[in-house]
Amino acid sequence: NDLKQVSTAQGPLATYDPGFMNTAACRSAITYIDGDAGILEYRGYPIDQLAASATHLEVAYLLLKGELPNADQLASWEHTVNTHRFVHENVGNFIRSYRHDAHPMAKMMAAVASMQTFYPSSRRLDDPEAREMNIVRLIAKIPTMAAWSYRHSIGRHYVYPNDELGYVDNFLAMLFQSQQRVYQADPRVSRAMEILFILHADHEQNCSTNAVRAVASAGNDVYTSAGAGIGALFGPLHGGANEAVLKMLREIGSVDRVPEFVEGVKNGKARLMGFGHRVYKNYDPRARIIKKACDDVFEVTGVNPLLEIAVELERIALEDEYFVKRRLYPNVDFYSGLIYEALKFPPEMFTVLFAVPRTAGWAAQWLEGVTDPEQKIMRPKQVYTGHRERDFVPVEAR
Ligand code: ACO
Repeated sequence: NDLKQVSTAQGPLATYDPGFMNTAACRSAITYIDGDAGILEYRGYPIDQLAASATHLEVAYLLLKGELPNADQLASWEHTVNTHRFVHENVGNFIRSYRHDAHPMAKMMAAVASMQTFYPSSRRLDDPEAREMNIVRLIAKIPTMAAWSYRHSIGRHYVYPNDELGYVDNFLAMLFQSQQRVYQADPRVSRAMEILFILHADHEQNCSTNAVRAVASAGNDVYTSAGAGIGALFGPLHGGANEAVLKMLREIGSVDRVPEFVEGVKNGKARLMGFGHRVYKNYDPRARIIKKACDDVFEVTGVNPLLEIAVELERIALEDEYFVKRRLYPNVDFYSGLIYEALKFPPEMFTVLFAVPRTAGWAAQWLEGVTDPEQKIMRPKQVYTGHRERDFVPVEAR
């Protein structure tokens, strides 16, 4: 697929591989994917076992350090992360200074990149303690920055972190707490969010992780690199598909219109959003787990009528020759938007809800990159297609 051997200006032969579909740019021991078999593992542990039994912070530890923590290590890790959630007031003011309708991802990207100015030790890449401390700060503070970006967009006061609450419950409280009422997440909602966080924590060399690694390869700190990752994730081709799924389900409107929509997809009128994946040519293992989490959330919130349409779409597509032949199955985005909507998140928050847990993966990939002695600055070649050796023409003669 689009892979060609070409001559370049610098040398005899290079591989022209647009989108790097066939190029491994790094070595990694973090996440394993077998797209044909529908397998996803973090450090060798299957995603369904982690989603069933772990917490997000436990998974973050695993991604970063390579092993699951024992009870003491977990308690100490949780304590360290959870006591670093406060963000400098100036970052709060910084977020406040944007227009009220600025996208929360854009505000968060700027806030995360600005962290480097508060923690110059982050530039000491050869100091293991500095590396670890700044990773802790990033993972601890990103929910606070995400929640504040959201509160700013709805014109509400910021809610400060609460040391008594776990990582996910505290995030939900910072988002939804009001002046009048202490927010307490229903345990089923909080577990569903925890599962969504685990499922989104890492996905090997996707576009944003590649951006993190490329920026890190120039010797950059974890905040600058994560800021680049947020920028990549902001793109609709990467982080925005679950929003597109909701739009599609709304447009279909009712279960009896599903067959007509599917026919339209087969005739090239639209894509079935939330279906198909560059890597998975089988059921995305995350989609299966999210579907189950939907049921748990809807027990609390009441059923989202769009779920019925989604289930019918899946049923028809999985039996249809067009989708079967092309190996198109539901991906992680097919059901996640339904949960976010049921929890009353506005669509522009969906990508933020992806970025918060993905920070654990970005940090692990950043660490692996900056400590790999074989990692070189990422600098691909090009196939030059422009003019050569032209003489400059003075402006009056052009
Ligand atoms: N609906 C209908 N047909 C599709 C779909 C779809 N969702 N996805 C792929 N196809 C068809 C293509 O038309 C093509 O058919 P053809 O061979 O007759 O031309 C064939 O399947 C192969 O498609 P490609 O676009 O070459 O597959 P690619 O691997 O490049 O694309 C992608 C993967 C972008 C995810 C695609 O499946 C898609 O657009 N899906 C919908 C958007 C979406 O859900 N994105 C989220 C991905 S998950 C994530 O990023 C977190």
